[in-house]
Amino acid sequence: MAILLDGKKTAENIRENLKTRIRALAEKGIRPGLSVTLVGDDPASKVYVASKDADATEIGIQAWTHRLPASISEAELTAHLLKQNADPSVHGILLQLPLPSHLPSDKLLNLIAAEKDVDGFHPISLGNVMLGRPGFKPCTPWGVQVLLKAYGLSPAGKHVVIVGRSNIVGKPLMNMLVQKEEYANATVTVCHTGTPDISIYTRQADFLIAAVGKAEVITADMVKEGAVVVDVGMNRIKSDKTKSGTKLVGDVHFESVEKKASYITPVPGGVGKMTIAMLLTNTVLAAEAAVAEAARLKRQTRP
Ligand code: GUN
Repeated sequence: MAILLDGKKTAENIRENLKTRIRALAEKGIRPGLSVTLVGDDPASKVYVASKDADATEIGIQAWTHRLPASISEAELTAHLLKQNADPSVHGILLQLPLPSHLPSDKLLNLIAAEKDVDGFHPISLGNVMLGRPGFKPCTPWGVQVLLKAYGLSPAGKHVVIVGRSNIVGKPLMNMLVQKEEYANATVTVCHTGTPDISIYTRQADFLIAAVGKAEVITADMVKEGAVVVDVGMNRIKSDKTKSGTKLVGDVHFESVEKKASYITPVPGGVGKMTIAMLLTNTVLAAEAAVAEAARLKRQTRP
């Protein structure tokens, strides 16, 4: 039976450490500020945004959630984002995805000031990730790496197989895990909808990362005995065992795979909370960088 990779507990520890850094910033008169924008009323996005707001507030980050109507125009949303860029009390800006189909996500994400891009979705942030340079890392792939590290599970020298090539998870994670760094330095294979038979690859994985977005598609026969299995998926499916008539499951068929894996993340309680913890970490980093930049400018302008 696999050992559970407890993302909830690991995220709690991260938040505790952040509190110390937030207190140090408070002594300098700075409170980290996170501006979250939710367009429309996608039910899952509403839940994620509420969770981000609650976790940020709990550790002392000033969080603003801007709820904008689905009918908002590109020009109005552009003006709103530029206002967040210009506000010095805002250190981090997050535009919750997906956006309604009339809004161009890529173009709007590009507007977010790179120094406030706490989601790590801006091409500058992603470019830095690819080059292995400092910068904001996208929260979910970073959360996966930090969770593995918390359990001393290094992918170095191992074969990591990622299923899914999204810009949010698969592509950045692939780039992070091939860097010549600690808790990286892996051989990485990325499977996707263009891969005729993903099981050929998943069965070779020492570390299997599922970021497909489809309920329970990774089954035990696709997993190597003793593999470390990380499930990034969050899918709501019908269930006659719950009051609501639905339940949350991952991309991995947990019940069968936990018998074969050495370590596995549960859903919920795995990667989800890590994503938010890394968002808060990026927000504190953004505030610390703003303080350092202000001090640098002050030194520069001293007569
Ligand atoms: N939609 C699903 N996951 C995310 C995320 O991590 N950030 C944003 N902005 N939108 C999302």
